[in-house]
Amino acid sequence: MLNPPFPAAALYERVRRVIPPIEWPVFEDDIAAILALKRERNAVVLAHNYQTPEIFHCVADIVGDSLALARKAMEVEADVIVLAGVHFMAETAKLLNPSKTVLIPDEDAGCSLADSITAEDVRLLRQRYPGVPVVTYVNTSAAVKAESDICCTSGNARAVVESLGVDRVMMLPDEYLANNIAAETEVEIITWKGHCEVHERFTPAEVRQLREDHPGVVVLAHPECPPEVVAEADFSGSTAVMSDYVGQQKPPQVVLLTECSMSDNVAVNHPGVEFIRPCNLCPHMKRITLANIRRALEENRHEVTIDPAIAAPARRSVERMLAI
Ligand code: 13P
Ligand code: SF4
Repeated sequence: MLNPPFPAAALYERVRRVIPPIEWPVFEDDIAAILALKRERNAVVLAHNYQTPEIFHCVADIVGDSLALARKAMEVEADVIVLAGVHFMAETAKLLNPSKTVLIPDEDAGCSLADSITAEDVRLLRQRYPGVPVVTYVNTSAAVKAESDICCTSGNARAVVESLGVDRVMMLPDEYLANNIAAETEVEIITWKGHCEVHERFTPAEVRQLREDHPGVVVLAHPECPPEVVAEADFSGSTAVMSDYVGQQKPPQVVLLTECSMSDNVAVNHPGVEFIRPCNLCPHMKRITLANIRRALEENRHEVTIDPAIAAPARRSVERMLAI
C-alpha cells in the first residue's frame, strides 16, 4: 500500500505551543511509522487525557476521559485498538468490544487505585455489609469489576450512586472520590482506603499559596484529590469536565489540580488561557510512549486477554454503568 506523504508541518502546528521546535524531530520518525502502521493494520489509537501531547494530538484517533474512552471503545469498528493509557482502560475496552485485538503498549502501566483492592477484598466486604450494593470505580481490575454490582467513573459517580435507589452503598476503592461524592448526595457511602498516588499529593496549603501568588486564578480539582483540596477549589470534575470548563469559561488564568499532561493537552486548544502549574506526573501513564505504541503495532504486543469466567460479570458491571 502506498502511504500518503507524512504531514509533519501540519502535525507540528497542533503541538507547537507545548513542544519546542528543537524537540520535535525526535518524534517525527515514530509518528510517521505509527500513522502508516495504523493504516496497514486497520488500527485505532485511543488515548486518555493524561497522555503526552505528541501522542494525544499527533497519533490518537479517539481521546477523552475514562468514561468517554469506554463509550467510544464499544463503537470501534477497526480490527485493532491500541490503548494509550493504563491497563484497566485496556481491559475495559476489551470487555466492551471483545472481538477486537486490544493492545497495551506497556503491560506494567498500572494504577495505584487498581492495585489497592482485590476480588477477595470485595467478597469479604459483601460478608461484612450484606445486601449493600457495590459501586466500583473503573480504575480496578476486571476481577474486581466482576465482583461488583455496577461501575462508575469520576464523570458519573454521583449519578450511578443515586441510580440504585438505596440508602447505603459501598464505593470502592477510591476513598477520596467516595468522600467527595458523599458530600453531594444523601446516600450513605462506605469507603475503602485506596488513593490515587498522583492526586493524593495535592494539599490545601498548596492551593492557598497558588491563590496568593496568582490572584484571580481559577482552581479546578479532580475528584480523586482529597476532600480538603476539593473544598479549596472553585470547581471539581473529571478530566473531560475540566477540559470543557476551560473551553466554555475561558478563565484568564487556571490551574488544573491533576496530572501534568492534562494542562498541555488542553492548553493546545486555548491559547488565550494561561495554565499555572503545579501538577503531578503519573508514572503509569508515562510508561506509554510513541516508541512502544509503534512496537505494539509492529509486534502485536501486548495483547489484552480476560478469563471468560471473569469477563462476563465484569462486562455486566460496566454495561450497567453505561446504560445510565
Ligand atoms: P478521568 O479521566 O475519568 O477523570 O480519570 C482520571 C484518572 O485518573 C484516570 O486514571
Ligand atoms: Fe491511577 Fe492516578 Fe495514575 Fe489515574 S493518575 S492511572 S488514578 S495512579
